[in-house]
Amino acid sequence: MPQSNALLRDVDAHAEPQAAQPQAFELRPLPGPLGAELIGLDLSRELTREDFARIHQAHLDHHLLVFRDQRITPRQHIDFSRRFGPLMIHVLHQFHLPGHPEILTVSNIVENGKPVGLGDAGKYWHSDISYKALPSLGSLLHAQELPSEGGDTLFANMHLAYDTLPEALRNAVEGRRAVHSYLAKYGQLQKEGNWRPNLSAQQVAQVQEVSHPVVRTHPENGRRALFVSEGFTTRIEGLPQDESDALLAELYAHSVRPEHVYRHHWREHDLVFWDNRSLIHLAGGTPDHLRRKLYRTTIEGDAPF
Ligand code: OGA
Ligand code: MN
Repeated sequence: MPQSNALLRDVDAHAEPQAAQPQAFELRPLPGPLGAELIGLDLSRELTREDFARIHQAHLDHHLLVFRDQRITPRQHIDFSRRFGPLMIHVLHQFHLPGHPEILTVSNIVENGKPVGLGDAGKYWHSDISYKALPSLGSLLHAQELPSEGGDTLFANMHLAYDTLPEALRNAVEGRRAVHSYLAKYGQLQKEGNWRPNLSAQQVAQVQEVSHPVVRTHPENGRRALFVSEGFTTRIEGLPQDESDALLAELYAHSVRPEHVYRHHWREHDLVFWDNRSLIHLAGGTPDHLRRKLYRTTIEGDAPF
């Protein structure tokens, strides 16, 4: 005889506190070059080691995970992110979420004449924080307020970009290093919009340029990936500037060929977690009259090799 629900509830009420049970969630790879959706996972509940291991593996396999319908607080967003590594505090402290410096607000909303977040984040293809000696492992962006049109984010698979690089380009980048700079495009971005505050000397000191290999090896999946992008890469070391510009332009064009790109159309309460070692990304743009706000955490990675 099956037990009645009333009896089951009664039994539960008297049970000893239990360790969290693994969550039943489904992994659905997205059609195309990268990404998977996780359905049925609730990040506001405690995760078991087993849940975490599945998520971690899925992230390595697909490079981008879409967690649908996450009703999580900034605290829970931070705590989940932290399980993957230390969090980075963005140099633009003006756009930290008050009380939570680990969260960068990405938004085009202006309140009382003041932007609530960085309005032009991701205007050029980039890998987050590639301008630091220890760039980001991955970022988690959580939708707070979405426009009725536009506001997509595009992602390109840099493992595929490397694997399909024409032989001549592959030879041209072999063993090369490239310089990454936060400041190189900053002045231009200041002119193009009203989002970018002047940087203090202290802020400038935090973002001195660095160099990284043009082709990096992913420390966890062992695959090679192109690691240059128009947002932060300024030149390939050891080449005259014109040759470097021409080579970078070819690499950029190849990286974002349509067959390497996934376009994410945001749904309410989406949390998207991508791998900055495997992908570059771009903000598709939002019409000025529509509001968009997302919260980002950024996990620190290791030195590219
Ligand atoms: C970011 C970013 C793009 C977007 O938050 O790192 O690049 O579409 N955002 O908001
Ligand atoms: Mn970004």
